[in-house]
Amino acid sequence: MICLGIEGTAHSYGVGIITNEKKHCNVLANIIHTYQPPQGGIHPREAANHHVTYADQIIKEALTHAHLTLPDIDLISFSQGPGLGPCLRTAATAARALALTLNKPLIGVNHCVAHLEIGRGTIPACTNPILLYVSGANTQIIGFAEGKYRVFGETLDIGIGNCLDKFGRYVNLAFPAGPKIETLAQQGTTYYPLPYTIKGMDVAFSGLLTGAQQYISRHKPLKDICYSIQETTFAALTEVTERAMAHTEKKQVLLGGGVASNTRLRDMVKTMADERHAQFFVPRKDLCIDNGAMIAWLGYVMHIHGHTMTIKQSKINQRYRTDMVEVTWYA
Ligand code: ATP
Ligand code: FE2
Repeated sequence: MICLGIEGTAHSYGVGIITNEKKHCNVLANIIHTYQPPQGGIHPREAANHHVTYADQIIKEALTHAHLTLPDIDLISFSQGPGLGPCLRTAATAARALALTLNKPLIGVNHCVAHLEIGRGTIPACTNPILLYVSGANTQIIGFAEGKYRVFGETLDIGIGNCLDKFGRYVNLAFPAGPKIETLAQQGTTYYPLPYTIKGMDVAFSGLLTGAQQYISRHKPLKDICYSIQETTFAALTEVTERAMAHTEKKQVLLGGGVASNTRLRDMVKTMADERHAQFFVPRKDLCIDNGAMIAWLGYVMHIHGHTMTIKQSKINQRYRTDMVEVTWYA
């Protein structure tokens, strides 16, 4: 079975095509085009205009890459939420149009669940992980328990990626600032204390962001502040992930989201996993960031487990929570 998935929750527009090889995912194409704001943050309407402009071209590119044509597609899936309304609507509209034209089934999927399932789908050893999902807008610690993906912990204010990008904007680093902060942090030598905020199982970063900005206004070295931001935020994320693993007795941890590219975060989480005799997994980069292949794969998994959707049911849901999904396929 071949599924085409459309991702459009935020500034990236992605079209992925997957097929199944027994129970695993074979990615045939995964084309991603990212909206770069001329300056400042993402304006949802402008990001959506970008998606509309490139929708057709990216679908064609994905088909070409997979050596397929539209009639070869058996199923269409799209990111139904959570995300920015105007962006979600463009992806959903493209998916509905394709499904109706081709007369093929349509399925809307939860973006956060897709980040976890692509790990399970493409890494055979990764069967029952706790996911540390760290992207721009999202920061969640997710795991399967009693029929659903449960959010064991999440950010109470901004996502870790947004925290890095906002700090980057303050010190004139171009968006996305995460990779530049990573490079600067590698040259840092002195740790400057920053708020380490964990409340229950949740984390918060806005106090830390303000603290980091104050150090900069007091002319502390940028490389040391980048180092201190990474050490503090990543330690908090690793701590909560470890507590979720201990609570659920899971022996696997999976990273997802754009911030999963960061080598310092990987090292910290891997060290924690090693100490617990647990396995550590990261999907390849194009499957970590927002992408259509993960949407296609989750659409396929849900479809073969009997999930169906009418056009009427395909309305987007900006606040589609991870634990709203009935997970009938987990094994
Ligand atoms: P979502 O809509 O799911 O929240 P997103 O639109 O923010 O995701 P992603 O591609 O998953 O998109 O993540 C982008 C984020 O990842 C940006 O905030 C960027 O700064 C951050 N990032 C990318 N590479 C690195 C890195 N090496 N270190 C730290 N952060 C990184
Ligand atoms: Fe994402």
